[in-house]
Parts: sequence; structure tokens; C-alpha cells
Amino acid sequence: TKAANGSGNPRDFITKMKESKKRIVIFYGSQTGTAEEYAIRLAKEAKTKFGLASLVCDPEEYDFENLDQLPENCAVFFVMATYGEGEPTDNAVQFMQNIQDEQFEFSNGEHKLEGLKYVVFGLGNKTYEHYNLIGRQVDTELTKMGAIRIGERGEGDDDKSMEEDYLEWKDGMWEAFSTAMGVEEGQGGDSADFAVSELTDHAPEKVYLGELSARALTKTKGIHDAKNPYPAPITTARELFQTTVDRNCVHIELNTEGSGITYQHGDHVGVWPLNPDVEVNRLLCALGLFDKKDTVIGIESLDPALAKVPFPVPTTYSTVLRHYIDISAVVEYHNVISNGCLKLGEVLQLAAGNDITAVPTAENTTAWPIPFDIVVSAIPRLQPRYYSISSSPKLYPTSIHVTAVVLKYQSVSSSRIPKPKWVFGVGSNFLLNLKYAATGESQPMLAEVSQPLYAIDGPRGAYKSETSYKSPIHVRRSTFRLPTNPKSPVIMIGPGTGVAPFRGFVQERVALARRSLEKNGPDALVDWGQISLFYGCRRSDEDFLYKEEWPQFSEELKGKFKMHCAFSREPPYKPDGSKIYVQDLLWDDREHVADAIINGKGYIYICGDAKSMSKAVEEVLARILGEAKGGSAEVEGAAEVKLLKERSRLMLDVWI
Ligand code: 2AM
Repeated sequence: TKAANGSGNPRDFITKMKESKKRIVIFYGSQTGTAEEYAIRLAKEAKTKFGLASLVCDPEEYDFENLDQLPENCAVFFVMATYGEGEPTDNAVQFMQNIQDEQFEFSNGEHKLEGLKYVVFGLGNKTYEHYNLIGRQVDTELTKMGAIRIGERGEGDDDKSMEEDYLEWKDGMWEAFSTAMGVEEGQGGDSADFAVSELTDHAPEKVYLGELSARALTKTKGIHDAKNPYPAPITTARELFQTTVDRNCVHIELNTEGSGITYQHGDHVGVWPLNPDVEVNRLLCALGLFDKKDTVIGIESLDPALAKVPFPVPTTYSTVLRHYIDISAVVEYHNVISNGCLKLGEVLQLAAGNDITAVPTAENTTAWPIPFDIVVSAIPRLQPRYYSISSSPKLYPTSIHVTAVVLKYQSVSSSRIPKPKWVFGVGSNFLLNLKYAATGESQPMLAEVSQPLYAIDGPRGAYKSETSYKSPIHVRRSTFRLPTNPKSPVIMIGPGTGVAPFRGFVQERVALARRSLEKNGPDALVDWGQISLFYGCRRSDEDFLYKEEWPQFSEELKGKFKMHCAFSREPPYKPDGSKIYVQDLLWDDREHVADAIINGKGYIYICGDAKSMSKAVEEVLARILGEAKGGSAEVEGAAEVKLLKERSRLMLDVWI
């Protein structure tokens, strides 16, 4: 088409804008890419705020003679870095010459830009003499030629505060922009970034069926990272407790032998889940795509500078929904029929008047055919779920252990959804299902729909072998690490699955102790610091994680490892009848805690719930340290906590 070829002169941005119906053109004077990034951000904001698409341009690739022909309902943005001693960036030299040269004529035959609407954001560095000179010159010259600036001129200081400067500037600018352009906020939103097309002519081996990278598709060797996760065989999978209906906890061991993957205690493992079949089918039906689920599709970005296709293509409709986008994220849904959290497919089904308690089929579903372009543009990519690794590589060099509570909670009931539904967390349930698969148990059925949850064979059977099931994983490094010197005392606080990394920590010390004892004899650990673990769960006989392992660790560490357990739902309770939590035990042990931290230069680690537990623990720490310093929790204690954090002697691995 004309638009795709940029008809005629490729250096003519005005025609390009008109053909692609864009009302904003953004030029960036960029040397290292920072100005370009801000240009792209402005373009994205214009899109989400006002639904306006922008042409983001390198000024070097365009001519400026027809800048005066910018239509009245359009605006031009300049995001200009100042380089060196007040110079323009290489790609803006020509443009700066044009606007500063009085002899340079625009297509009106004059050096005039009467009424041209423009925005300027300059990037500079205050440690240089000519701070933001180029942005200022653009502003002065354009004003001189009769152009009208929208909002204030923005200026960012690369030395100190670029981001804050930008944030401080942009809201006012957008407000002025809204008035100047006669557009209102909230008009953005559901316009598509991508165009989906159905393909007939394609090589089947080149179609992605859930592979996360070209390397995975072509099976080429290479390192395994977030772009190329490794399908790790599951060697062990067991439930750690299953006494309560609402909670479940799985222990999974992933074999990394021969993969080249290494890890450290305290690292995270990213698990790449799939979406449950029932949600995939529900959405396929709701979108009217069930019969076409295996049709091969290509997806192109309408504006590659702004949005890259977030997953590999060509692929199929069902693959996109199963492997690539996050259709299981719950959305808040409030209206007369329902009030609460639902998944996207359910919302669409409800909106089209379907019964969402039935197994979705093409026959019983009235489609609500939102174009797939919009679906792909609006729903974010399915992300890996991260878990704190619960093993030490010193004991398990080729095995990564994961300890995960399986999330399952009840959602709303309403007139259309008669009974409360179970909602399943994607990552942890994927793990649970892998567990069932690995142990040969049948997958649990989702009662309402009598269907297994997952099709876990993976793309082209990649997640299954004759002897095992596999999970795609990669390792993410963390700084959550023990001090290297075993003489430093260590205090670890991790109730619930927050204990996961600490199992790895203790194993790490056990491995070190074994070596040390072998080398230096039975007294090798005498001057080691004490490592204390504050653990909490509901009941000692219900959800006590790795209950049988801890005494062994303690024995091997010759008493240098001590565990404090808070069983919240069994006696003893506090005098007022309330529960005893880890922070209460920490307070009881305050003398040792203060001594370990202040005199022993010890290290403290908190892992687990960020909402209430870690806050409560930090408060108690501040109280303990404040008291030990002869001051208050609020002043001396808080200062001490802050200092410990800055020195990386108080570290957190917490989640909401
Ligand atoms: P509860 O569920 O009986 O209230 C692991 O989940 C353990 O952490 C449970 O014993 C749980 O107790 C406890 N817990 C819940 N809220 C907590 C908080 N704010 N601080 C510390 N522990 C908490």
C-alpha cells in the first residue's frame, strides 16, 4: 500500500503523517539513546492518554523544508540532547543549521513557521557550561519564527535528576497539550498496536507452538536465560502438607544437569507457566475463534518504534492464549450481575450473556468477537513466576528446589454465578499439576467444568519425556546471600513459604561445616557465629515445612543453628488470647538479637509476606535496636534499621 511504502519521498515526514493518520511527530536529537527513549515514552503517553499515534523520527532521516505545512490539528515535539560543549547531537546538526539559518526557506518561501504548535524537552548536564543549550535554541528560534510552544519548555539534568525533571514537567505539558489540540484524556485505550493476519502459506516447522525463543524452536544450543528458558525435568515432586482445603504446598526438585545452569543460595528461579486449558477454551469460544484455534497467524506491529510484538510469531490463536499472554489475570468486575474478581474469558462470556458455569464450547457460547488485534494489544505477556530457591548448590549442584504454596481462593458468587468459584493462581497451580503429572497421579479436575486444568505436554511435547515432566525455567540472580565469614551471626525471619531461601542458607552452612570439620577436626565450628531461624506456621502438626530436616541440620552444625517457632493456631497464645507470631519471638529473644547485631556485626534476613509480616518484623527490630541504644524505636531504632539496610546487613526478599 501507499502508506507502507511511504509513497514517494522517504524524507517527507508530513506525507508520512497524513498517510498513517498521525497527529504528532516527535524528533529526537540523541547520541546515546536517552533522548530517543524519552521520545518513545512521550509517544506512548500520547497514545494512552489521548489515543493519538505519533511518528517518532530521527531528524537526520528527514527534510525540514515543509515543516511549515504541518496541518493545524497536529503538533511537533523536539526531544533534544545537548552534547559536549553546547553542541547538537550528530543526528540533529542539519536540523539545527536549518532553523538557525535565516536564509533557509520553508515551502512558504520564507523563514517563518507561523502558528506551528510545538513542544520542547531538552536533555543536558548541569556540570557543563552550556546546560541544555540546544533545547533552548530550538525554543528561541521557533518562537522567533512565529511558532507557538505548548506548555513550558522541559529541561532534564542528566547529572542528577533526569527522571524527576521529566516527571515534573510532563503533566503540565499534557494539560496544555489537551487544550491546544482540543483533545481530552481518556480517549486512548483500546486502539490496537498490532495487526493480526491469518496465514495460509507457511512452513509448519517454523510455527511457534509455545516455544519462547528461536533457539528453542530450532533447538540450537546456547545459554539458558529469561529469553531461552530450560525445560528442566522434575525429579521429585511432593506435597508438604495438604491438611486444609484452601492451601496446598508443593516441593519440587528440578534437574539442571547438563544444562549449564548454575545458581547460588538465595537466587530466584523463574518458572514459565501455561494458562489452564479451560481458560484457553473459554476465551477461544468467547472470541468466536474456537473453530480456528489452530489457524496460523502472523502479527505485525503497527509502529515498531513504539511496540514490538511481545512473543514469537508466526503462531496460532490457541498458542497465544495458552503460552504467550496472561489471560488468567483476574480483573475486577463490578455491575448488577456480579461483584468481584473474574478472569477475562469469564467477563466476556458474562457480557455476551453466557453461562460461565458450563464447560465452554463453540455451541453453547455466544461470541463477543473482539478483534484479536485488540486482544494481543491489550493483554500483557504471560510472565514467568519467580520463586526463592529453597536449596543450596553446595549440597545440590544440579538440582534446584522450589517450595511454593498453591494459591487457590474463592471468588464471588452472584445471580449468574450461583456458587462461589475457586480461582487458581497460574504459576503455583502449574507446578502442582506438574507434580501430579510427574508422580503419575491424575490431574485434579476442576469440579465445575470436569476438565483437567492443563495441557502440560508443552510445545511439540517439549515438557514431557518418557520418564519425566519438565518445567521451563531460568535463574535470576539475587543479592540475598549469607555473609562469607561464618563467624558473623545471622538472624533469619521467614514464616510460611518465607522459609524457602533459609532452607538453602542452612544447607549452605551445613556443606561448609562438613568441609570444615573434615579439615580442622571436631572443634572447627567453635568460633562460628550463631545462625537463628525464626519460623512460623499455623500448627506444628499441620503446615510445618521441612519439619523433619531441621533437627538434622542443627546436629550437623553442632548447635550453631537455632530455630524459634511460632505456631499461630495452637497454644500457647498471648495472655489476651491473641496469636503468637515470629515478631513476638524476636522480641522475646531481644537480648541475643541486639547483641548479635550491634556487638557481633551480624546480618538479618527477612523473607515472606511484604504486606504485614515484614513491616511488623521491621518495627520490632527498630524497637529492639532503639532500646539497646538507649533511645526510642522511632528515632534511634529506625535510624539503625536504615543504616543496616544501607550496609546490606538487613536484607529483604518479600512479596505481596
Ligand atoms: P495465621 O494464618 O494463623 O494468622 C505462615 O502463614 C504463618 O504466618 C502463619 O502462622 C500465619 O498465621 C502467620 N502470619 C499471618 N500474619 C502474620 C503477620 N502479620 N506477621 C507474622 N506472621 C503472620
